[in-house]
Amino acid sequence: TKLWKPSQPLTPGDSAVAEAGRLLSEQQVIAFPTETVYGLGADATNKGAVQRIFQAKGRPADNPLIVHVANRKQVADLVTAIPDIAEKLMDAFWPGPLTLVLESNGQAAENVTAGLSTVGIRMPDHPLALALISAADKPLAAPSANRSGRPSPTTAAHVEQDLSGRIAGILDGGSTGVGVESTVLDCTSEIPVILRPGGITKEDLERVLGEVVVDPALANQEEQPRSPGMKYTHYAPEAPLCLVAGSDHFFQKHLKQVKSDGQRVGVMASYELAEQLDHEPVISCGSRENIEEVAHRLYAALREFKKSDVDLILCESFNESGVGAAIMNRLTKAASQIVSEQ
Ligand code: TXA
Ligand code: MG
Repeated sequence: TKLWKPSQPLTPGDSAVAEAGRLLSEQQVIAFPTETVYGLGADATNKGAVQRIFQAKGRPADNPLIVHVANRKQVADLVTAIPDIAEKLMDAFWPGPLTLVLESNGQAAENVTAGLSTVGIRMPDHPLALALISAADKPLAAPSANRSGRPSPTTAAHVEQDLSGRIAGILDGGSTGVGVESTVLDCTSEIPVILRPGGITKEDLERVLGEVVVDPALANQEEQPRSPGMKYTHYAPEAPLCLVAGSDHFFQKHLKQVKSDGQRVGVMASYELAEQLDHEPVISCGSRENIEEVAHRLYAALREFKKSDVDLILCESFNESGVGAAIMNRLTKAASQIVSEQ
């Protein structure tokens, strides 16, 4: 794996971007930064190239990939039609962390859509990602650049941990901004449906659309989710994670209890809770009052706990407004246990 690690931040004009673009034309896979998390890209119109993404990640074949574009023409080339609603959303939020699910015209390789009649498309808000798509001169299918099941990568080092030796190269653009993935929005029905909460919040969407629905499967573990990827174990740290829902007092009581059972416990918490605890190790992922900061640091924090050090991770629950909905969606999936007060 070639790591293009700049002494100064990579810029779109660097030869590394051109070289990575050339490798993509040769059906290789390249990891690159976006504003959300690092993606693992391949030519979305080439089935063989896309197959290499699934191999490198160990990803189940029935989980479709998001196609990344650098301009609107590339969208038009992939879909049967662009509904007015989708046009409005692109105007409002692109480039940015919003994936639109539209009717596919079959131009994306069949393994990109995992056999669905729809295709998920987004324009990432990152100069290196846009430059790479332009250099390849193809839309790029790109899931998050982690081994399947692991927390998504927010630095090039995370990508290296998971995929070194399995992919052609990594463009190092430093750490990503938003920190959680894009919002996936199904635009094929009258009222758009949020299939995965992410960087563009429900509140953001409502401001533009009026009405938005959340896929009921997100709240109900029993129901079959409409976004195929949502049913797999995801975002899992090395040690089992227990999500604690309730007051700070309840968290402290539960911590005391699991410690008295003799378990080596790691705590993941806001600064506000962390400073109340007399415990090691604690990894803090930011302030409760700044939920964007928590999103930005979430995956790096999950990756920090090593199974050699802890038997169990106790993790605080966060408020679900704004990007908190995406944080709690990921933590609920990462958790092997949830304990609630009362
Ligand atoms: O921010 C992101 O979206 C990142 C960066 C790299 O762009 N990508 C990402 O990809 O998170 P991935 O593969 O880890 O997640 C894609 C999600 C999955 O939940 C998948 O099921 C859903 O999008 N998805 C893709 N195409 C779909 C479709 N046609 N219909 C419904 N869900 C779809
Ligand atoms: Mg992923």
